[in-house]
Amino acid sequence: MSSFILWFLSFQIIQHSFSFSLARGGSEIDKLSLLSFKAQISHPPTKLSSWNESLHFCQWSGVTCGRQDRRVIELDLHSSQLVGSLSPSIGNLSFLSLLSLENNGFTNTIPQELGRLVRLQALLLGNNSFSGEIPANISHCSNLLKLNLEGNNLTGNLPAGLGSLSKLQVFNFRKNNLDGKIPLSFENLSSIIEIEGKMNYLQGGIPNSIGKLKTLNFFSLGSNNLSGTIPPSLYNISSLIHFSLPHNQFHGTLPPNIGLTLPNLEFLGIHDNQLSGLIPATLLNTSKFTEIYLSYNEFTGKVPTLASMPNLRVFSIQESGLGNDEDDDLSFLYTLSNSSKLEVLAIDGNNFGGVLPDIISNFSTKLKKMTFGSNQIQGSIPDGIGNLISLDTLGLERNHLTGSIPNSIGKLQNLVDLLLSENRLSGSIPSSLGNITSLMQINFHQNSLQGSIPPSLGNCTNLLLLGLSQNHLSGPIPKEVLSISSLSKRLGLSENQLSGSLPFEVGKLKHLGYMDISKNRLSGEIPASLGSCESLEHLSLDGNFFQGPISESLRSLRALQDLNLSHNNLTGQIPKFLGDFKLLQSLDLSFNDLEGEVPMHGVFENTSAVSIAGNKNLCGGILQLNLPTCRSKSTKPKSSTKLTLTVAIPCGFIGLIFIASFLFLCCLKKSLRKTKNELSCEMPFRTVAYKDLLQATNGFSSGNLVGAGSFGSVYKGVLAFDGVTVAVKVFNLLREGASKSFMRECAALLNIRHRNLVKVLFACAGVDVQGNDFKALVYEFMINGSLEEWLHPIHTLDLEVHQPKNLNLIQRLNIAIDVANALDYLHNQCKMPIVHCDLKPSNVLLDGDMTAHVGDFGLLKFLSEASCQSSSSQTSSVGLKGTVGYAAPAMASYCWR
Ligand SMILES: *[C@@H]1O[C@H](CO)[C@@H](O)[C@H](O)[C@H]1NC(C)=O
Ligand SMILES: *[C@@H]1O[C@H](CO)[C@@H](O)[C@H](O)[C@H]1NC(C)=O
Ligand SMILES: *[C@@H]1O[C@H](CO)[C@@H](O)[C@H](O)[C@H]1NC(C)=O
Ligand SMILES: *[C@@H]1O[C@H](CO)[C@@H](O)[C@H](O)[C@H]1NC(C)=O
Ligand SMILES: *[C@@H]1O[C@H](CO)[C@@H](O)[C@H](O)[C@H]1NC(C)=O
Ligand SMILES: *[C@@H]1O[C@H](CO)[C@@H](O)[C@H](O)[C@H]1NC(C)=O
Ligand SMILES: *[C@@H]1O[C@H](CO)[C@@H](O)[C@H](O)[C@H]1NC(C)=O
Ligand SMILES: *[C@@H]1O[C@H](CO)[C@@H](O)[C@H](O)[C@H]1NC(C)=O
Ligand SMILES: *[C@@H]1O[C@H](CO)[C@@H](O)[C@H](O)[C@H]1NC(C)=O
Repeated sequence: MSSFILWFLSFQIIQHSFSFSLARGGSEIDKLSLLSFKAQISHPPTKLSSWNESLHFCQWSGVTCGRQDRRVIELDLHSSQLVGSLSPSIGNLSFLSLLSLENNGFTNTIPQELGRLVRLQALLLGNNSFSGEIPANISHCSNLLKLNLEGNNLTGNLPAGLGSLSKLQVFNFRKNNLDGKIPLSFENLSSIIEIEGKMNYLQGGIPNSIGKLKTLNFFSLGSNNLSGTIPPSLYNISSLIHFSLPHNQFHGTLPPNIGLTLPNLEFLGIHDNQLSGLIPATLLNTSKFTEIYLSYNEFTGKVPTLASMPNLRVFSIQESGLGNDEDDDLSFLYTLSNSSKLEVLAIDGNNFGGVLPDIISNFSTKLKKMTFGSNQIQGSIPDGIGNLISLDTLGLERNHLTGSIPNSIGKLQNLVDLLLSENRLSGSIPSSLGNITSLMQINFHQNSLQGSIPPSLGNCTNLLLLGLSQNHLSGPIPKEVLSISSLSKRLGLSENQLSGSLPFEVGKLKHLGYMDISKNRLSGEIPASLGSCESLEHLSLDGNFFQGPISESLRSLRALQDLNLSHNNLTGQIPKFLGDFKLLQSLDLSFNDLEGEVPMHGVFENTSAVSIAGNKNLCGGILQLNLPTCRSKSTKPKSSTKLTLTVAIPCGFIGLIFIASFLFLCCLKKSLRKTKNELSCEMPFRTVAYKDLLQATNGFSSGNLVGAGSFGSVYKGVLAFDGVTVAVKVFNLLREGASKSFMRECAALLNIRHRNLVKVLFACAGVDVQGNDFKALVYEFMINGSLEEWLHPIHTLDLEVHQPKNLNLIQRLNIAIDVANALDYLHNQCKMPIVHCDLKPSNVLLDGDMTAHVGDFGLLKFLSEASCQSSSSQTSSVGLKGTVGYAAPAMASYCWR
């Protein structure tokens, strides 16, 4: 017995020392593995500075060791600004149970060696720039509970082997470039709770065997290329809480008992598919819903009665084929008054009939978006609409609404978009609208509104669009309304009975692109101040009683594409400068009293672009206009004509030969050059020649250099042809991505216009003196430089006296507001939301009034509303974009992709 105890004890001792030495050896491996891990990080950040010999590796930051054997069990270095590749040596940390490297800048592939980490429970690699395929060997990590690969650049298929991870609970691979089919083996993920794989390129159908996953409660595969019908077995996973398959190509119908088989559903997102048939009554009969998205499908019939859903935040059924244009179509709205958390109610683009029920006044005061547009809704807007104090979007356009716009609408202090166009609304425009300074769009066009335009609208100083065309409005155009200098998208007042003259305040609309005040009763002269509206591309003043000459000041409207002055009482000559407008495509001067010579250049060369009929005393112009030739001013006495002819003919003949051969040579030279130096003029901007820029910037001299950025240099210059001071941004095309950056900036600036964004005047794409490709954008020059210079003045050694630059609090605040306005516009007011991705003080420029303008759009990203997928496909560069630390936090997520 005692010998047995002795033996047992010695065995224990031996075993202990053996395992101790094993652990020591293991320790050494762990240390070496960590060091090779660090060696692959290109610029080890401060976080890794504790990784040195003076500390035991168990004390290195991010490292956690087991108590006894001092082996690394956790490596958590999330959000540590690590850039580099992930060393395969990580596979030697054989005791590791947690590896978290989320939110860093890792590139290259994920090493197969991770498959050796059989104790690994959480592998978290999200929000990096890993590329290549998901390593198949991960399937050996049989203890894995959580696998997060989201937000990388992974390609290829989902490895079938992953199906063997029978303990896996969370698998997140959203926002990658994965394609191929969903592996059948996923039926064996028997512990899975969450599958998140939206925004990839997965194809094919969802295997019916997915229905075996009885613990699943989060299933999200939106924004892929999935097709076929949604397998019936999926509707039998009663544990499902979050069911999301939007932006795919699924067809088929929803089963009638869906609400019974999925009783726990809180989130249903099946929008933007081709689903059809009726919406089953059972579906909307459960009270747990928080968000329901059925939009953009091909359903039919009515919306069934909704259960009382106290937690509902979003109910979206836009453009989904619902409604029968019958009186009770909107009866489903009644129960929504019980949803005190409702924020979004979108039912636009259907065929709902019936009267707009008063019940909407009782909806949640949290309601932000209510869009009922493009239906067949009748009745009037209830006065109680003023209760919905959180509304930012009220869309009732394109219905059959009657009655007047309630004055209570002025209580909606958060309203941004107010869309009531194309109804039969009457009465006057409530002056209370002037109390809503957040408004950006007021669109009332095509109604029967009467009375005058309330001057109080002038207090809506954030307005981008004011559409009041096609109503019965009368009285003068208030000068306050023309002082809304934020107006940039559109001012539409046409087809009313507005009278009086056009106030000179119109010149404050410096950012306006589209102005239509045609078909009114406006009279007097066209104010010279109109020439200050230099952003105008479309200007219609036709069908009024304007008189007097066409103002010389309109010379500065060089952006005009479309000018209509017809059917007025204009007199005098057609100004020559109209022919100089390079972008002018349509010019209508017909039915006035214009006289004198019709110019022959520019738009006047094209008879289909110009209309001059109904003016009695015009002459000249190109032959096709068939106008009488103009009588030259100094008519020579007849007798001398003969003499001149006899001398002129022989001389002229010789001259002709001379000129012809000269022209021939020139053309030859030009055509030779053209093949090489062709300017690509398909650009959306007014173009400017390389030589003009060369001249303007003193040959791009260093004296004119005002800045250099990631994609090129910026020069100050004065354009010789119009004397305007400009900033010329020359793209350094040798640098990778610069050409793309140029195109991106062009594309973006084409469609956006806002008083807090830098305006592009010209673009130039051609070849420089050395025959290299040359691309530049010409902006208005910002006299006060960039915000960077104000915040961090550079102390120069030259003897120039630099005024100390100081911003007072008000100026700082105003700049912040200007920048916020610009971003709000980019994010929320553009057709396709735009993310700047490089916002920093050096890209915020200050004009003479210290108004801030955001510039440099070379890194922007479009976020398509329909599908965020396209944001990754349009700009394929993944990884950290822009300048670290300056991208606004709200945008960082997009910029880090
Ligand atoms: C090692 O890291 C510790 C902790 O950060 C630090 O105090 C020490 O100075 C470092 N030693 C060396 C040699 O860098
Ligand atoms: C892993 O450790 C082994 C020794 O156990 C070594 O030979 C190998 O090089 C290590 N692998 C890596 C990738 O560091
Ligand atoms: C991957 O797993 C296979 C076994 O399936 C193994 O043979 C191979 O060595 C593993 N690769 C690495 C790099 O660990
Ligand atoms: C699921 O696992 C079972 C048992 O291991 C196996 O027989 C079956 O082939 C697996 N299914 C798929 C599709 O791989
Ligand atoms: C605008 O608001 C002020 C105070 O909030 C209020 O006194 C005034 O009556 C409102 N004006 C209109 C026209 O509603
Ligand atoms: C605009 O607002 C100012 C200040 O809030 C107010 O004094 C003025 O009466 C308002 N103008 C109109 C036309 O409502
Ligand atoms: C406009 O011209 C027409 C024809 O010349 C003239 O009858 C009319 O009185 C003029 N109208 C105004 C408002 O000047
Ligand atoms: C992402 O992957 C695609 C396809 O493999 C590749 O073309 C692209 O360059 C990658 N982007 C980055 C930033 O690695
Ligand atoms: C990755 O970034 C997205 C977007 O910012 C964020 O929602 C998500 O939580 C991040 N993922 C991880 C694992 O940190």
